[in-house]
Amino acid sequence: MLEDIFQSPTTVSLFGVFVALLLLHLLYSSFSSQNRPEPPGPRPLPVLGNLFQVDLKTIHHSLFILSKKYGSVFQVRLGPKKVVVLAGYRTVKEALVNQAEAFRNIEITPLFHDINQGHGIILANGDSWKEMRRFALTTLKDFGMGRKMSEEIIIEECGYLIKEFEQFEGKAFSNTQVISYATSNVISALVFGKRFDYKDPFLNIMMERNYENIRLMSSASIQIYNVIPWIGPLLKNWRDFKKNIGNSLADIKKIIVDLKKTLDPEVCRCFVDAFLIHKKQLEDSENRNSHYHDNNLLYSVMNLFGAGTETTATTLKWGLLYLVKFPHIQDRVQEELSRVVGSRQVRIEDRKNLPYTDAVIHEIQRVANVAPVLPHTTTKDVTLQGYFLKEGTTVLLLLLSVLSDESEWESPHSFNPSHFLDDEGKFIRRDAFMPFSTGPRACLGESLARMELFLFFASLLQHFRFTLPPGVSEDELDLKPVEGFTLGPKPQQLCAVQRQ
Ligand code: HEM
Repeated sequence: MLEDIFQSPTTVSLFGVFVALLLLHLLYSSFSSQNRPEPPGPRPLPVLGNLFQVDLKTIHHSLFILSKKYGSVFQVRLGPKKVVVLAGYRTVKEALVNQAEAFRNIEITPLFHDINQGHGIILANGDSWKEMRRFALTTLKDFGMGRKMSEEIIIEECGYLIKEFEQFEGKAFSNTQVISYATSNVISALVFGKRFDYKDPFLNIMMERNYENIRLMSSASIQIYNVIPWIGPLLKNWRDFKKNIGNSLADIKKIIVDLKKTLDPEVCRCFVDAFLIHKKQLEDSENRNSHYHDNNLLYSVMNLFGAGTETTATTLKWGLLYLVKFPHIQDRVQEELSRVVGSRQVRIEDRKNLPYTDAVIHEIQRVANVAPVLPHTTTKDVTLQGYFLKEGTTVLLLLLSVLSDESEWESPHSFNPSHFLDDEGKFIRRDAFMPFSTGPRACLGESLARMELFLFFASLLQHFRFTLPPGVSEDELDLKPVEGFTLGPKPQQLCAVQRQ
C-alpha cells in the first residue's frame, strides 16, 4: 500500500517538495539559532528563575552588578518571566534611537494595567498612546511648556515656595512635602488652569496618595502580584493601591466636571479645556473612530501629574542635599548667582551666563538617577548586537548604567560638576546625559522639567544658604535612596538660612 502511494508521480513530487521545505526549515532554524543566539545570563532555577541573584526591591542595582559580568545585553528570569536587560550608553541608545520602532512599547505589567486600564499616555501603547502623546505635547507647548508662559508660572510658584521656607526662620524643617506641592502646582496651572494653596486638601491628599503608592509599588507583595496576578484581591497592599488610584481619579474627575460646566470654546484656559474642545469638534464632525473620550482625558491628566510632580520634586530635593553635603560647591553656585544675577529675579535667559550653576543641576540629575530602569517590550522580532529578541520580549533599559557608564564619564561614581564644563569653565552637553530617556517614548515634559529645575534651584539658592541642622555633620548625611520605582532621598531635615 505504502509502496503504491510512493509510485504515483504526483505523490513523489509532493513528497519531494515537502522534504525540501523541511530541510530548508531545519537549515534556517539552525542558521538562525547559530547566528542569532539569545543573550547570555546567569543560570536560572526552575520556577524561581534568578530571584536569588536579582533583588526585586533594588532591581536596578542587582542588574547593574550583573551587567558587569554578562555584558551590555543579557537575560535573567524573574520567576518564570524572561527579561532582557540593556546596559550602557551605546546599547541603550542603539535600542531607543537606532531601533526605535522595535523598542518603543512600554511593558504593561498587571499593576500598570490596574493604574491606567490601557488609557492615557504613560502606561499605554498603540494608536491611542500615539494620539494622546501627540496631543499632550502640542497642547502643552501651546500653553507655553518650555517657553515664556511656563516661565511666568514657575517664577510665581518660586515666590510661594520661598515664602514657605522663610517661615522656618533658618530652623531645621523637612522640605519633602512643600517641594512636591510646588512642582505639582506647575502642572496644575497647565492642566487645570489654576494653582492650589499649599494647605488645600486636594493638593495635600493627592500628594499623600502619591507617596503611599510609590511605597506600595515597590513592596514585595506587589512584585509578586505582577507575576501571579490572581492573588491581587488577597493582598492588602494591592487593595490599598487600587483604593488610592480610585480616590485620586474621583478627585480629578470632580475638577474636570467643574471645568466642563464653565467651558467656553472661545477661551481655552488649560489642557482639559483643549481636550474637551477638540473632542466636541470631532463629535460635531461625526468622527466615530476617536481616541478623544472621557477615559483618555481622565487618565492623561492623572499621568501628567504622576509623571511630572515627583520626578521634578525628587530631583530638587536631591539637589539641596548634595549642596549641603558639598558646601564648597554651594559656595561656587552662590558666588556665580550673586555675580551674574544679583538680587533680581533669575530668569531662563540667565542660564547661558551661569555655566557652573547649570553644570551643577545636570550633575544632580546624573547622580540622582531618579528613573533608574525603564520597562519596555519589543514590538517585533529584532536583533540587537547579534542577539535575537522575539516580539513581546520584556526589555529593561538600565538608565542607571548610562548615567554612570565608565566609558562615558570621567568619574562616574562621584559628584563632579566638571563633567559638564570644558577647560575654560563653559557649559558642555554630554551625549550620555539621558535622565529623560530618549527616542519616541522619551519624557514629554523634558523642556518644562528643565525650566523648573533651573528656576526653582537658582531662586532658592539666591535666597537661602542650605545647611544641616546644628550638631549633624556632612558625613552623617544619608545619601542612600529610598528604593522604589523612582529613587528619592530619605526624608531629612535641612535649614534654609536667609542670605539677603
Ligand atoms: C526631572 C524631571 C523628570 C524626569 C527625570 C523625567 C523622566 C522621564 C523618563 C525617564 C520617562 C520614561 C521614558 C521611557 O520610558 O523611555 C518619562 C516619561 C514621561 N514623562 Fe517625564 N520626567 C520628568 C519630568 C516630567 C514632567 C514635568 C512631565 C509633565 C509634563 C513629565 C511627563 C512625562 C510623560 C507624560 C511621560 C510618558 C511619555 C510616554 O510614555 O510617551 N515628565 N519621564
